[in-house]
This record gives sequence, C-alpha cells and structure tokens, in this order.
Amino acid sequence: MEEKISVLISEEEVENRIKEMAEQLSKMYKGGTVHLIGILKGSVMFLARLAMHMTVPVTMDFISISSYGNGTSSSGTINMKKELDQDIEGKEVVIVEDILDSGRTLNYVMAYLKSKNPESLKVITLLDKPERRVFEVDLAMTGFQIPDRFVVGYGLDYAEKYRNLPYIGVLD
Ligand code: IMP
Ligand code: MG
Repeated sequence: MEEKISVLISEEEVENRIKEMAEQLSKMYKGGTVHLIGILKGSVMFLARLAMHMTVPVTMDFISISSYGNGTSSSGTINMKKELDQDIEGKEVVIVEDILDSGRTLNYVMAYLKSKNPESLKVITLLDKPERRVFEVDLAMTGFQIPDRFVVGYGLDYAEKYRNLPYIGVLD
C-alpha cells in the first residue's frame, strides 16, 4: 500500500538548516577534531550532509539501536544491535540523531557512551518532538522542533520505507 505524504519541511529548508548547524558546530570545536556518532539507520542522511559542511576535522562511527518495531509507536524496549567500532576515550563526541521523541533512545545511548570516558559528549538532533518527551535529554543543538506527527524522509522511515526522501514529510 502507498501512503500519502505531504511536505512538512522542504529540501531547501533542511539543507540550509543543516549547513547552519555544521557552521555552528565547527565554531564550537575550532582547533579540535569532532567524533560524530550516528544512530543507524535514521541519522545517516543528516550525519552525511552535516559532516560535508563541517570545516574542522571529523571522524565518524555508528551504533545501531532498536526501540521501535515496524509501526509508528514506541515498543518501549531497547537493544543494541551494533556496537561502536572505535574507542571513544578522550574524544570530543557528538551523537547525531534523526529525531528526539520520548527520549528513551538517547537516554540509553548517552549513558552507554558516557561510561566509555569521552573527553566530552554532546547530542544534536535534526528533529525534536518536545510534546512527546518522557525522558529528559540535554540537547546541544536542534534542527527543527516539530508537532506530534509521524514524519518520514531524510533518513526517517515508516516500515523501512521513505528514508530516501530529500525532505521531511508527514504521513496522512
Ligand atoms: P525515542 O526513543 O522515543 O526518543 O525515539 C527515537 C527514535 O524513534 C528515533 O530515532 C526514530 O528512529 C524513531 N521515531 C520517533 N518518531 C518518529 C517519527 O515521527 N518518524 C519516524 N521515526 C520516528
Ligand atoms: Mg533513530
């Protein structure tokens, strides 16, 4: 079945905002190296565009977590499906996430990464649904705050589809 999707944030708006975020991050970490950690698979498009616009040296790694099933509501359980490849001790780490919803995923990931002794640990997210927060998460930067709607595109999926849309859309 094909779902109907309407544009919430256009491709141009997303690109412009990511560029701004990259510039801001580059200023924050001037003189250093930023180790970006993406949470698969949703953060891939955001992380790639962000990294391309950054002007400080960047390294990257990915972890994979599952907290959602194939539907549109959280299953409430989290498991780690792919660990870090590289040690993060002493590194300036930035977790890159597609969307902050209940906060369950980032809470878990933050605690996990903190225990590995990075020099610093910050979180940035492309999208934030503040109305849905259950677990508090301290965000260093947010792309866009959005209403409590299920969104797809720019890495975000509905049953693994629509990750490749170059804009943020809403499922009707
Ligand atoms: P949280 O653990 O409830 O904060 O959920 C975060 C994760 O749920 C995100 O990384 C997404 O993978 C997924 N998610 C939350 N809201 C949406 C949405 O609107 N569209 C697609 N995925 C979502
Ligand atoms: Mg995700």
